[in-house]
Amino acid sequence: MRFTLDDWTSEFGKAQSRPRPYRNAAVSFRPSSIDDRELRRKLLEQGGLNVFKFPAAMIPGCDLLTDSGTTTMTMKQWSQLLLGDESYGSNEGYFEFKNQIVETFGPQWENRDRDQENVFIFHQGRAAEHGLFTCMAAILGAPGKRVGNEPFYIIPSNGHFDTTQANIEANCFEARNLFSPDLRAKDETSLFKGNMDLAQLEALLADPMTRERIPVVYMTITNNTGGGQPVSLANIRATAKLCRGYEVPFLFDACRFAENAWFNQQNEPLCKGKSVAEVVRLMFEHVDGFHISLKKDGLVNIGGCLVVNEQGLLAKRYPELRVMLVGHQILVEGHPTYGGLAGRDLKGVVEGLKTIVYGEYLTHRINQVRKFGAAIDEQCDASVVVKPVGGHAIYLDLDKFFARTKLRDDQFPGISLTALLLIAGHRMCELGVYAFGKMVDGKEAPSDPRVNNVRAAVPRLCYEDTDLLSAAEAVGILYRRRDEIPGVEVVYGQDRPMRHFISRFRFV
Ligand code: F0G
Repeated sequence: MRFTLDDWTSEFGKAQSRPRPYRNAAVSFRPSSIDDRELRRKLLEQGGLNVFKFPAAMIPGCDLLTDSGTTTMTMKQWSQLLLGDESYGSNEGYFEFKNQIVETFGPQWENRDRDQENVFIFHQGRAAEHGLFTCMAAILGAPGKRVGNEPFYIIPSNGHFDTTQANIEANCFEARNLFSPDLRAKDETSLFKGNMDLAQLEALLADPMTRERIPVVYMTITNNTGGGQPVSLANIRATAKLCRGYEVPFLFDACRFAENAWFNQQNEPLCKGKSVAEVVRLMFEHVDGFHISLKKDGLVNIGGCLVVNEQGLLAKRYPELRVMLVGHQILVEGHPTYGGLAGRDLKGVVEGLKTIVYGEYLTHRINQVRKFGAAIDEQCDASVVVKPVGGHAIYLDLDKFFARTKLRDDQFPGISLTALLLIAGHRMCELGVYAFGKMVDGKEAPSDPRVNNVRAAVPRLCYEDTDLLSAAEAVGILYRRRDEIPGVEVVYGQDRPMRHFISRFRFV
């Protein structure tokens, strides 16, 4: 019997492969070929094996150094850039941006107070962090308050990103990571490994002596330091309930909020049947403020902001904060209505925030990252990728990768791995004992808890699966010959802060 059109219509529903929900609108050719290995080797040595110093144009393969600011913008975004209003005061994009914040994150983010701003624009995420922690430190007198050698104030989080931690510490607060038990146990089946350790948080908050040392509680969504792992809505709610109960403000570092919401929508009964946009609003009901690097889920190449809930605990507990933030913006960024950005950038991010919650895009994006992770494991014929794969990146577990080799921590095999990958034509970065460790009394000490990965972060709307497969193959080649990978010694920068950006190495 021949199929009817009804039959055919349902038959195609069985297809396994799906096209990307977008198509290329412009492409850029690279000036160098995958075959220019000798050239890359030379450039690598010139840059002291530091992947950050390698000229990006000379990377013919995947540049997976970061997913931050590396987005390919959509045609609609580009069209908005042309409409940018470059006025110094109150440009058009400023109003549209503030409206879009309410549209994306919910009605509680509206600026009802005519005298005080609630959206503070900065040129990128860390500038927003810097503004917030500088002002809070001034309000609290943090630099002058210590307990013995330790800072008096503690800022707990499910996992601070490195710049957040650095900004916290630079302002004489302690940044404390309360990684979830699943993350610490390296549980490969846990769906929400990014969660806050609620027991530890409660222990801190329940003790009145410790509580007075906690000016805010933080949550990073997704948890980048923990491997790009999502946080459950249930965990967000439970954290918020604890914070509210003890009257401590609760803030998001919201860089990858849409990716987090996608995981909630897919895996959490609380979110079943809801759109990603709806889940985002559910998440943001629970915080008193958030900052975001718009270079991630803002889908733009530059931009950041800090947003304060006018009715929330942050505004109540620190009534002078918003005025101080405006002063800070004027000192370092420009007029608060453009905050270090061009007016056109604001137009671009408004469009980006509309696009980012599109479910089919997120499904494609996160599946692409997952497929990349699976391809690496397949190439290595081993489980070297941290599981489950998070939203924006895959993390190679260096302790697994180098398990049977004799390389010591202070030979930094992760640095060797990323250097050799550049000769292959792809860029990843070490986020392990070098990036997170430090010198203590002349000896290397890893972070506690130990984090030891190489990260391959996938830029948004940028690469096709074949590109990522080529990077996976390069990892496989290195894995099969891992016993032959030499260690490195540090030529410059081992004892410097943020040393992974500036150090130089050589193979030993
Ligand atoms: N918070 C998180 C969770 C981040 O991942 C980043 C940046 C920032 C804050 C700072 O934002 O770069 O705009 O100043 N992460 C990038 C990365 C750099 O590669 O993961 P920024």
